[in-house]
Amino acid sequence: MGAYADVYQRSLADPEGFWLAAAEDIDWTRAPTQALDASRAPLYRWFPDGELNTAYNALDRHVESGRGEQTALIYDSPVTSTKASYTYAELRDKVATFAGALASLGVGKGDRVIIYMPMVPEAIIAMLGCARIGAIHSVVFGGFAPKELAARVEDAQPKVIVAASCGIEPTRAVEYKPIIEDALATTTHQPDRVVMLQRDTAKADMTDRDVDWHDFVADANPADPVPVAATDPLYILYTSGTTGKPKGVVRDTGGHAVALAWSMRNIYDVSSGDVWWTASDVGWVVGHSYIVYGPLLIGATTVLYEGKPVGTPDAGAFWRVIAEHGATALFTAPTALRAIKKLDPDAAQVTHYDLSAFRTLFMAGERLDPETYHWAHDKLGVPVIDHWWQTETGWPIAANPRGLETLPVKPGSATMPVPGYDVQVLDQQGNQVPAGQEGAIAIKLPLPPGTLPTLWGDDDRYVESYLSRYQGYYLTGDSGFIDSDGYLFVMGRTDDVINVAGHRLSTGSIEAALASHAAVAECAVIGVHDALKGQVPRGFVVLKSGVDVEESTLCDELVDAVRRDIGPVAAFRDVSVVDALPKTRSGKILRKTMRGIADGRDEPVPSTIEDVGVLDSLRVVLRGER
Ligand code: COA
Ligand code: AMP
Repeated sequence: MGAYADVYQRSLADPEGFWLAAAEDIDWTRAPTQALDASRAPLYRWFPDGELNTAYNALDRHVESGRGEQTALIYDSPVTSTKASYTYAELRDKVATFAGALASLGVGKGDRVIIYMPMVPEAIIAMLGCARIGAIHSVVFGGFAPKELAARVEDAQPKVIVAASCGIEPTRAVEYKPIIEDALATTTHQPDRVVMLQRDTAKADMTDRDVDWHDFVADANPADPVPVAATDPLYILYTSGTTGKPKGVVRDTGGHAVALAWSMRNIYDVSSGDVWWTASDVGWVVGHSYIVYGPLLIGATTVLYEGKPVGTPDAGAFWRVIAEHGATALFTAPTALRAIKKLDPDAAQVTHYDLSAFRTLFMAGERLDPETYHWAHDKLGVPVIDHWWQTETGWPIAANPRGLETLPVKPGSATMPVPGYDVQVLDQQGNQVPAGQEGAIAIKLPLPPGTLPTLWGDDDRYVESYLSRYQGYYLTGDSGFIDSDGYLFVMGRTDDVINVAGHRLSTGSIEAALASHAAVAECAVIGVHDALKGQVPRGFVVLKSGVDVEESTLCDELVDAVRRDIGPVAAFRDVSVVDALPKTRSGKILRKTMRGIADGRDEPVPSTIEDVGVLDSLRVVLRGER
């Protein structure tokens, strides 16, 4: 049996022994004597009697073990022409001071803090500052509109918001202060204070509630790490569900620290002192796990990159960062590589840089299409590893475990289930399907440490959304198949979640934005294939009878409505006015059938369809057929 197969079997046969052994990689103020707590199944908890502090594990313990002068964080920001680096000792001190300042506002264990910041070191300092005093952070991605921010404020009820005055996009500065004010104008919950990092590119107008970051930390006393229960939440990260209301994924403290440290060594093959770069955003789970917590928990050096893959200044931006900082691995989304490939198909820029330290390219966020896989593999000459996971799990479900054993790569597959995850493909009735047959991908409970224990304040929604479809299983929302060698192929979502340039969005919330327009009677949004972004949303609207509007004006207004309600990140540009939407006789819109037609599949016409003619008309619109 190979190293992977052996470890995988052990993780499922003896989860208790397996995860207690893994927990030894973490410093506890009270070491756990029990791994799994199943007393409230299907709501499982990990390390119920353990106690620890995550910021201590990410920073102080490395300083105390003599690595205080090692670089913890490299900030590389082509959009502001800034580079900076922080040793473990420097980062610990900054985090302790920020934590002390937060505590002076009365923020303590269990209080929520929303962090609305771009890719600046202060975002990481704020996250770890919260963790240091046991406060629960919730980071909101900068590309979201006020309404999305407001939904998170209302649900998380933060005592404080920590923000920056702007994010910087290639063509413009995105001013955050007006977005915050617009959001807070609509929420019943109001934070006590807004801590504002003023950036030179665009300064925020300050009000009485606001406090300048630099004044805030100027006289603060550093705070010591506060031990919390392993089961206490470390953070909440909101993600798109099938409805418009985002789901507050809760991450617990102990399971998260254990799982992430384990994954850094066994999946990513990264050790203390290695330079590791994840090109994502701290607003997404990939940023939480593998820009911030994972690399710092094991004492690696993490790179924080504020910029795009291309145009800063050219298609060599990524290779420059790898070479300049000696990164041993890069983790990014396939869409970023497609953007580079589009501009530099022969990868001429690669030859301008010394990539000798570079060992592995990890890809996730969306399916790694075989064409992009082959391009990256040929041009970079390093293993290209696709791996699959979700905000909910916080770390990979399926991967090629480089630290255990490098398995042969099959393009299009995320390789094998990661130890701890009992991944199965089920049919409608909940039976496992034969090898090679597509079905719903589900994970047999319990999920391993580090995965979501629940949704914030809503156990019922957690059970209903994930645990009810198949008894004893977690429903991933993805479909796919396992081949005869045990390789998992993840093919796409079975629900109304779409993935736009690695950004997860709900078609339900885009539909809500369209439906808010006075002229719209009903609408549907589906994800359609896009060569660069993987998927983009496409809308179809039926007008109220008697409405007389210029179609192009209406479409512009609808595009604006989505930017206003969700944000530019939805990349919503394409909307058509149609006479009717295809429906079942009971009135359900046939979105799956629409998706199939848009993807060019020969979808069978459902027997429950109300009017086949409507589908034929839509086929003409979707495929441009005449
Ligand atoms: N704050 C504010 N606005 C943002 C933003 C942010 N953090 N990120 C994106 N936007 C805006 C963009 O400015 C753009 O606005 P526009 O319509 O006014 O031009 C819109 O949202 C769409 O942005 P994006 O999806 O980034 O498209 P793009 O064409 O600018 O760039 C890629 C395409 C592929 C280069 C880019 O999407 C990318 O780097 N993706 C990687 C994604 C990733 O790392 N995902 C994490 C999972 S691993
Ligand atoms: P998010 O929660 O934003 O990380 O998005 C998770 C979703 O992205 C998954 O449920 C998948 O649909 C998709 N996804 C992420 N990584 C992969 C991958 N490697 N292969 C296929 N789909 C992926």
